[in-house]
Amino acid sequence: MVTSTHLLWLLAVACLVPRAQSLAPQGFEEEEEEDETLRTRSSSVPCDYDHCRHLQVPCRELQRAGPSACLCSGLSSPDQPPDPPRLGEVRMVAEEGRAVVHWCAPFSPVHEYWLLLWEGRGAPQKGVPFNSTVRKAELKALQPGGAYVVCVVAANEAGESSVPGVEESLEGASFPAFGPCGRLAVPPRPQTLVHAAVGVGTALALLSCSALVWHFCLRDRWGCPRREAARAAAGL
Ligand SMILES: *[C@@H]1O[C@H](CO)[C@@H](O)[C@H](O)[C@H]1NC(C)=O
Repeated sequence: MVTSTHLLWLLAVACLVPRAQSLAPQGFEEEEEEDETLRTRSSSVPCDYDHCRHLQVPCRELQRAGPSACLCSGLSSPDQPPDPPRLGEVRMVAEEGRAVVHWCAPFSPVHEYWLLLWEGRGAPQKGVPFNSTVRKAELKALQPGGAYVVCVVAANEAGESSVPGVEESLEGASFPAFGPCGRLAVPPRPQTLVHAAVGVGTALALLSCSALVWHFCLRDRWGCPRREAARAAAGL
């Protein structure tokens, strides 16, 4: 009997103390509301997990490590191959022939990732595997002016994610947004552009020179009709 009264008293104190604190002079109603939502949410805070963040610790591990339980969004079953990851930004460093590929994790248990790279048609090159925290990787030795298709694959014990529609897309069809694949067009080497610019410039200069030569030399030889007319007019 005594313990239950104590319990009741403790409960009352636990409930009343935060309320008493929120009885601040101004805007206590708002604060009380916030307090209320906080209390209902405190046991259901989402984990600090960003499925696109590089070196992101898996959500399950965050749950285990954290001081209080947090929520992870539902994952597909570990007995199924993962859903495809989502290809993110592809940052090209064309001068060095490399590109940094970013991706976002699927809502599936993932053991490792790798990249597939198609250069034209035929079989893709398979990149080295990365652990499940990794969200970006570098492609090297890309040819200037080259056109590639890159896909991210996720794998777990049950299998690997699919790369839908690559065969058709290699022919030029576009990839669905938010999918695991994307097209990669490496700009031509800057030197090539400079050469092209110099070429065009030289051609323009030659053209202007010949126009000038024609203007000053040939005109004198054949005579300019307007000048002749002027001279004739002055002679009168
Ligand atoms: C995963 O790979 C990254 C990059 O190589 C590394 O920094 C990290 O320590 C690895 N994490 C685990 C859990 O192996």
